[in-house]
Amino acid sequence: MQIPRLHPDTIEQVKQKADIVDVISDRVVLRKRGKDFVGLCPFHEEKSPSFTVSPNKQMYYCFGCQAGGNAIDFLMQLGKLPFSDVVLELAKRYAVPVQTLEPEHRQELQRQITLRAQLYEILAVTAAFYQHALRSAQGQQALEYLKSQRQLSEETIQQFQLGYAPAGWETLYRYLVEQKGFSVHLVEEAGLIKPRKEGGGYYDVFRDRLIIPICDIQGRAIAFGGRTLTNDQPKYLNSPETQLFNKGKTLFALDKAKDAIAKQDRGIVVEGYFDAIALHAAGITNAVASLGTALSIDQIRLLLRYSESKQLVLNFDADKAGTSASQRAIGEIADLAYRGEVQLRILNIPDGKDADEFLKTYSPEEYHHLLTTAPLWLDWQIQQMLVNKNLKQADIYQQVVQQMVKLLNNIGNPDTRSHYINSCAEILSQGDARRVSLVAENLMAQLKRTHRSRPLGIVSRRSSPPESIPASSESEKLEKAEALLLRLYLHCPECRQAIADILEERDLQFSLSHHRFLWRQILHLQETAAELELDLISKLQDKKLEFKQEMAQISHLFHLDEKSQRDISRTFKQMQAAVNRIEQVMCEKLSRHFLDLWKKTNLSSDPERKQQYYKEFTEAKQRSMDLEREYQVKFSDLGEI
Ligand code: UTP
Ligand code: MN
Repeated sequence: MQIPRLHPDTIEQVKQKADIVDVISDRVVLRKRGKDFVGLCPFHEEKSPSFTVSPNKQMYYCFGCQAGGNAIDFLMQLGKLPFSDVVLELAKRYAVPVQTLEPEHRQELQRQITLRAQLYEILAVTAAFYQHALRSAQGQQALEYLKSQRQLSEETIQQFQLGYAPAGWETLYRYLVEQKGFSVHLVEEAGLIKPRKEGGGYYDVFRDRLIIPICDIQGRAIAFGGRTLTNDQPKYLNSPETQLFNKGKTLFALDKAKDAIAKQDRGIVVEGYFDAIALHAAGITNAVASLGTALSIDQIRLLLRYSESKQLVLNFDADKAGTSASQRAIGEIADLAYRGEVQLRILNIPDGKDADEFLKTYSPEEYHHLLTTAPLWLDWQIQQMLVNKNLKQADIYQQVVQQMVKLLNNIGNPDTRSHYINSCAEILSQGDARRVSLVAENLMAQLKRTHRSRPLGIVSRRSSPPESIPASSESEKLEKAEALLLRLYLHCPECRQAIADILEERDLQFSLSHHRFLWRQILHLQETAAELELDLISKLQDKKLEFKQEMAQISHLFHLDEKSQRDISRTFKQMQAAVNRIEQVMCEKLSRHFLDLWKKTNLSSDPERKQQYYKEFTEAKQRSMDLEREYQVKFSDLGEI
């Protein structure tokens, strides 16, 4: 399809509807910090988060690599996609009707949107059909199974819209196609029927199975899981991937769990449909199920969106292949966990039971106890290393040390690493407290070079990079002071008048060209629009297309890092300090200028002028010294700005 020219209304609506936090948290694990969100930048390698997303401004910015923009920019930059592709993608996602400037494109896009709507409808009608069948004579056995063997209440059966797929080969086919008049192709695309290999015609995918609808976050059915009631293989049959159903991006019961996850700030992931259902039935409603595969990073991000402090408990079967099921299930989360982006705990139920089985014998409180005592993933791994190991045996001891070193090497965060070095050392010392520090040093010595730099025991609490050394040269001083004033102006509307006044009063100008550019833009916007107050920054951002290079130099001023945020909170004083610095640099320059002129002027031929230069020089010098004194008296507590 040729790239359509999108109608400006469509672009505007997409901008309005696409929430940046929503869009970005699909790809980046975001954590709330103050009004904003932070995470690890997807555009460059980094260990501590400098990527911020502001829901108020609907913008992102990375303090590490200066990447920044709105939701559309983000997707363009990340996927190296053209503008119109991104807008179309977002239009689909946020159900914005697409208007293009060419009618044939409009039709094609409308067709795609209608297709999805029709698939949703087919799935919904099917779910109702299965539910109805469960209550009919043919579903009696299935209903009985749910009630007696699964011990589910009527309420839970309803809540999860459980159903029954009748035994015939074409029951659903006839219902949907012949009775309801849905097109065969759409029903096939919905993953519900398959063409017969011979003789033409179609047959139902789900036959004589208990049906568990799989829903999207909004609670719309997008697929089904079907459990056999006999001993048929496979035990569970799932819908194929369709336009609506992407297995790796779906978690069963998330629609029903998301509020509880947000409220308790923690999500539980279990393996089976019925484990999740049993937990919900027991009042533990922050549980979701993976769909029988290793957890993908997309599934985890989906879930972590709802937990502010990113807490996740994995409750996977411990029996199967020993504990490797949990290990395998962790799949792509490992990296996130090692970097400390998710606080991952592992819950293994004793005797290799799953949550559903456990709750048949034990109370919800007992499950809750397991939940709160579940070890962190790193601790759990260490526990696993020690199972059935006798550390008194030299070869076993060595083997465990090797495994520990391997684990420690994976931990990115230095604080976390030194914590685990100590706890491994304690374990390896086997109760002999005098040996702990020696063993710890030993472990350290075996870590990768890059990990050894910090001496043991000194734990830095500082998460941001060290602040740069104070500016000494004039241009650095000027850059900082001007930037501070502009930042104040942009982020602190109540200071704007004062800043404008003081600049005028003292006849000061921004002297760095990119700052002058920004100041001109600000003045220009203010002349043309009266009601700017809070909108100023986003209006300025809109100039990015027009003034690409200029904006690149100043767009960092539109965002506040931790230091700038602190600065802003001491606004007025900072502002005066900044003005002091700017003026002082000006006076110094001026004094040098007059000194130069004074030197060059001949006393005998031009005595008056020479005297005038001297006067100008001393005045400028005096003013500079006064300003310096003022700075020392009034602003020394701010340090050098
Ligand atoms: P399990 O085989 O561990 O069983 O499947 P379970 O959930 O305890 O099943 P019950 O209690 O006997 O009913 C765990 C999950 O793996 C997926 C399903 O999502 C299931 O809930 N699975 C399992 C399949 O998709 N297909 C299968 O054949 C088996
Ligand atoms: Mn089970």
